[in-house]
Amino acid sequence: MSPELLGFKSAVEDALRLYLPSASPIAQSLVDAMRHAALGGGKRLRPLFVCAACTGLGGRLEDALAPACAVEFIHSYSLIHDDLPSMDDDALRHGLPSCHVAYGEATAILAGDALQALAFETLAGAPGASPEVRVSAIRTLGKACGWAGLVGGQSFDLDSEGQALGEGRLRELHAAKTGALFRASVELGALFAAARDEPLLRVGEFAERIGLAFQIVDDVLDVTQSTETLGKPSGSDRQADKSTFPALMGEAPARDLARQLLEDALAALGQIGLRNGTLAELATLAVEREH
Ligand code: IPE
Ligand code: IPE
Ligand code: MG
Ligand code: MG
Ligand code: MG
Repeated sequence: MSPELLGFKSAVEDALRLYLPSASPIAQSLVDAMRHAALGGGKRLRPLFVCAACTGLGGRLEDALAPACAVEFIHSYSLIHDDLPSMDDDALRHGLPSCHVAYGEATAILAGDALQALAFETLAGAPGASPEVRVSAIRTLGKACGWAGLVGGQSFDLDSEGQALGEGRLRELHAAKTGALFRASVELGALFAAARDEPLLRVGEFAERIGLAFQIVDDVLDVTQSTETLGKPSGSDRQADKSTFPALMGEAPARDLARQLLEDALAALGQIGLRNGTLAELATLAVEREH
């Protein structure tokens, strides 16, 4: 990782700690569960995309930190719920017991709910942003994580267990459950940098392609890496009979498709002179990763 990305990561980690509650007079186990989920590990890719998009488009890192934390809170909540027995039923996350294993199912559900609320609270109070930018950011994130985005995609994912979706439907599934939050991360970065016109259009195209590539790689790693490397149960998709790209076309073609999408994403950045910047470095890391 370049010094710039490492700097973003440490700023994000500090900001997450600041925004998260640490003590509650009424529900300490809830707060402990929120911290377990949000501070227990993770690559922080989505908040890094917010920071890299914002600074790459001329904005300031300090303005990107509130939206960066907001997307990571949504992500953390989505993983808590994704691991529940009624969803993917996975007992390990980031090499630690999943939230419901550590704190019980009711507290885990509530911790997810509270992290989702905290995301919007954080955006609504983003320092240095105008009321217009805040409202627009809330709308962007709400749309990305709601019925037609992440939550809709999770529903589609669960409904599709045991079925073999074709490539078109699988692209739609991945675009909703994963792509929407990736796209929102980049869009929030652009919004807090006051980007418009062609740069806004191109980073949107970029994010669309990276979001899909990212989930294809996640599906491939599920069948190629160990539980120890992943920090989450390897083979979980096969066990639940999920529709995935490696199941549809095989591991090597799925990897090739992800690489092609990365090239197409970088080409979109090339059109606005960002082919060799930090945003491009981050995209490459997100697709070429091994865990
Ligand atoms: C996992 O995302 C959930 C998916 C959408 C595939 P990440 O791989 O980004 O999760 P972290 O890095 O463990 O937080
Ligand atoms: C989860 O996808 C997407 C979310 C919205 C949380 P997965 O179910 O593939 O994520 P992992 O593999 O458990 O991290
Ligand atoms: Mg899932
Ligand atoms: Mg899962
Ligand atoms: Mg997965």
